[in-house]
Amino acid sequence: MTSTSDLLARRNRTIGPYSPLFYSEPLQFVSAKGVWFTEANGDRYLDGYNNVPHVGHCNDRVVRALSEQAATLNVHTRYLNERVIDYSERLLATFDPHLDRIFFGNSGSEANELAIRIARQLTGNIGMIVSDYSYHGTTITLAGLTTGLQTAVPLDPHVRTLRIPDLDRDPRPDAEVLSEALASLDASIASLQEAGYGVAACLFDSLFSTEGMPRVPAGLVTGIVDRVRAAGGMVIADEVQSGFGRTGSHMWGYQFAGMTPDLVTLGKPMGNGHPMSAVVTSEAVLDAFGSRNEFFNTFAGNPVSAAVGEAVLVEMEEKQLMTRAATLGAEALARFREFAGQYDFVRSAKGTGMFLGLDFAVDGAPAPHLAKQVVEGVKARKVLISRIGRDESVLKVRPPLAFGQAELPILLDALAAALDEVSV
Ligand SMILES: Cc1ncc(COP(=O)(O)O)c(C=O)c1O
Repeated sequence: MTSTSDLLARRNRTIGPYSPLFYSEPLQFVSAKGVWFTEANGDRYLDGYNNVPHVGHCNDRVVRALSEQAATLNVHTRYLNERVIDYSERLLATFDPHLDRIFFGNSGSEANELAIRIARQLTGNIGMIVSDYSYHGTTITLAGLTTGLQTAVPLDPHVRTLRIPDLDRDPRPDAEVLSEALASLDASIASLQEAGYGVAACLFDSLFSTEGMPRVPAGLVTGIVDRVRAAGGMVIADEVQSGFGRTGSHMWGYQFAGMTPDLVTLGKPMGNGHPMSAVVTSEAVLDAFGSRNEFFNTFAGNPVSAAVGEAVLVEMEEKQLMTRAATLGAEALARFREFAGQYDFVRSAKGTGMFLGLDFAVDGAPAPHLAKQVVEGVKARKVLISRIGRDESVLKVRPPLAFGQAELPILLDALAAALDEVSV
């Protein structure tokens, strides 16, 4: 196998040095199974980070479904195919009854791009509202509203941003924090209307993953939804990170947040690594858009993707992965809370289900260097996690949902040992 330094040099000469790599010393895996990666020398790493291999890396059911369908028929959607419809029905049955129509895509970016295109057409407006530290994808429209990742594209003039408050970082009463956030949204809506853009949509991730999983005041999400609708806009729930049972309590993040979106975008875990995404919406919205646009997407919703997507759902059901996320997540969160009580530099434990974090702070100021030390310290114990948030001070523990009871102590022990080693 090529040495890490040689491969890095070749990578820099081909795909360039700018595409991000994790860790000061990057990792090079040769295989993965379930929740374990393997290096060429046989060393194994526990995956506490990746949500794409949702039902486990190289899952047997998914691999079998993919290869059998690829060996039988793969074709675009201009021919009838029962498997695609079976899958659509099965997936749509997991949504609230009014969300009963689907457009397929190939990436989260494509799904968000389409959702915005639909919202603009149906509302006749172009104004967009997003959180002030968020990421929704790679297209030019999405680059123009990216606030949580470096992009040379300035914010589009018709985009307004909303600061998502975190009660764990704000000592004021919840009601005061809530009314400040909603007043700032009111001002953004007024400014979009005054500028003649109107409000097409508000796009957000119900768990506020990129934002660092802030603990938001009760009524924030529903307050946003009500105001955006009253202004004539649509609500797009980005489920690329928060969907597919990740929260443990609900299949979809929007259900966890207690709101009803007009459009829901899916991605990452949907195909367990096979590129798949979707926009889920109502019959009225699909009709309004579909009847005016001959919308066709060559690779999206093909029979191989449908076979893969269906295998993911069957695997989730058979292994009861959402329930598992609830049980293991509660156990892990309890330990995370102990960590928060034990170490002065841990401000709070964050998250729900199998999406958890610890927020690091020293003297009230975010401490990204400590989060980095812990990520590296956990890696030294052959467990993979990462960090998120505006300050990169929040650990990101978001393993495949196939993560099991046997693996939890390995992750928690590695974390405990890395926390013990932190030098402030
Ligand atoms: C919340 C969210 N939405 C959308 C995307 C874009 O998805 P993709 O990279 O599949 O285009 C991402 C990717 O990280 C994401 O985290």
